[in-house]
Amino acid sequence: MHTRTLGQGLEVSAIGLGGMGMSQGYGPNPGDRDEMIGVIRAAVDRGITFFDTAEVYGPYVNEELVGEALEPVRDQVVIATKFGWDIQGGKSVGLDSRPSQIRRVAEASLRRLRTDTIDLFYQHRVDPDVPIEDVAGAVGELVQEGKVRHFGLSEAAAATIRKAHAVFPVTAVQSEYSLWTRDPEAEVLPALAELGIGFVPFSPLGKGFFTGTVDTAAPFGAGDVRSGIPRFEAENRAANQALVDHVTQLAAARGATPGQIALAWLLAQHPWVVPIPGTRRLERLDENAGATGAALSADDVADLDGIVARLGVRGDRYNEVHMGYVGR
Ligand SMILES: NC(=O)c1ccc[n+]([C@@H]2O[C@H](COP(=O)([O-])OP(=O)(O)OC[C@H]3O[C@@H](n4cnc5c(N)ncnc54)[C@H](OP(=O)(O)O)[C@@H]3O)[C@@H](O)[C@H]2O)c1
Repeated sequence: MHTRTLGQGLEVSAIGLGGMGMSQGYGPNPGDRDEMIGVIRAAVDRGITFFDTAEVYGPYVNEELVGEALEPVRDQVVIATKFGWDIQGGKSVGLDSRPSQIRRVAEASLRRLRTDTIDLFYQHRVDPDVPIEDVAGAVGELVQEGKVRHFGLSEAAAATIRKAHAVFPVTAVQSEYSLWTRDPEAEVLPALAELGIGFVPFSPLGKGFFTGTVDTAAPFGAGDVRSGIPRFEAENRAANQALVDHVTQLAAARGATPGQIALAWLLAQHPWVVPIPGTRRLERLDENAGATGAALSADDVADLDGIVARLGVRGDRYNEVHMGYVGR
């Protein structure tokens, strides 16, 4: 797989692997822990070098899984993790990006990841109680000590990114971005282009929706975050299916799968965009990695943009509580 370069010269595979779903978010895992380690190692065999996790996934167990899986190939891969949630009794109860907490999380993440440096350390959500300059300063100190290599932000507003970058250079911003989540286009992507910062779209397959495999009506199982997301409510999902149908038609014409078209559309936006689709299945890992070969023409990109603009998207990407944490 070819590589792309995020900010500050950080080179990663053009498509990464999101680890969250292996520990939470999409209901019961169809495989066991050893199988997940196998999926992560198979990703390395296929040239994927960019792995995404977070302290809060599990919590903690996802970092342990990623750390164990990548230990034998540690020098060949880039591991990104995240701090910033206040985790009590196994649950996130709010935010905590105080410098002392950032340091504590870094030390604990290093142990769980079985490594002596975190390649990319993102603030998971902007903490309104801690000035972003203090956050950037705290991560900058960890970089000076060699415990962290690069600084990232997630779901931050453009103004916050600018303030952080002025204190310590930001390498990547990770926010939700896909055919049906276009929020970063207004202010964040132009700011990143200007500042030379990379962008990592999370939920690039629309939480699985754009693969065409999400049943339009069936309820989601226990532990599936989509059961609490407005755009996946039965009526909205049925209306939004028209978008997936269009992507599926284009995919058939291009000899690709709908999920590959959704990822190729992201890759076509800017050369510094690196999506991190999440999957627990080997065959899907192969399919997603194959998106790098599904080049879209400028007309295809315009066609996809046009259909989303014409049909619109029914329902928000988060419920009210989670909406309160983004765009600050
Ligand atoms: N910064 C943040 O706040 C934040 C928030 C959310 C996610 N993330 C990161 O972004 C990563 C990706 O996002 P995501 O997992 O939410 O969404 P996603 O990658 O858009 O979609 C994941 C869903 O799609 C399914 N899927 C994946 N590939 C498929 C394929 N080829 N065919 C059919 N179904 C497929 C997965 O199921 P299976 O696993 O069963 O294949 C899962 O249900 C996460 O793993 C996490 O690392 C970050």
